[in-house]
Amino acid sequence: MTKNIAVLVSGGGTNLQALIDAQARGEIVNGSITAVIASTPEAYALERAKKAGIPGYVLARSDYPSAQAMTLALVDKLHELGIDLVVMAGFMTIVTGELFQAYENAVINIHPSLIPSFCGKGCYGLHVHEKALAYGVKLSGATVHFVTEECDAGPIILQKSVEVLPDDTPEVLQRRIMEQCEWKLLPRAVSLFCQDRLKVEGRTVRVLDGAE
Ligand code: GAR
Repeated sequence: MTKNIAVLVSGGGTNLQALIDAQARGEIVNGSITAVIASTPEAYALERAKKAGIPGYVLARSDYPSAQAMTLALVDKLHELGIDLVVMAGFMTIVTGELFQAYENAVINIHPSLIPSFCGKGCYGLHVHEKALAYGVKLSGATVHFVTEECDAGPIILQKSVEVLPDDTPEVLQRRIMEQCEWKLLPRAVSLFCQDRLKVEGRTVRVLDGAE
């Protein structure tokens, strides 16, 4: 049965766009993006959803007394929409364990570094690239992983690296990682999930062979 995908967003939504474009090319095998949920009504990602004819919803942390209350409302919404896979694509709001209990090994996140480098609390968006440049690494990249209660520490699904070049600014490095890593890895991981080709064995995710 085709899996229903919800994409959680907070900002520009270029990763959402990569998923929408991959879907249009028929590259999300056995899956369909049926909802986009934004943490703020200002997220440009909502425009992208609208243009693609995908229903958009807003779930703002400020509308709830606690992160837990917001998470419970999110889980209710996901159940109501019949969602099978939750994709965090630049979703910058902290959620609590109830989400991962309801969707065990069915929440995935994209992070713009080679985890376990430059990840964890406070490490998001452009900050990740600032830290990588300040450290002087020669390689950086992106990671798609299953989300667990511990921030950025769930089993890794796919990773891809790029070179860090001498004159890189955080913005230039961010763009290279988006273009060469994130926009390719995320649709691929989503498609693998939808084909039941990701098998979690402890910390290791085995990618099963398919008809490709
Ligand atoms: C992306 O680079 C994503 O990897 C990052 O935020 C950006 C969102 O861009 N996510 C994190 O840092 C999560 N810790 P987008 O809205 O254009 O997809």
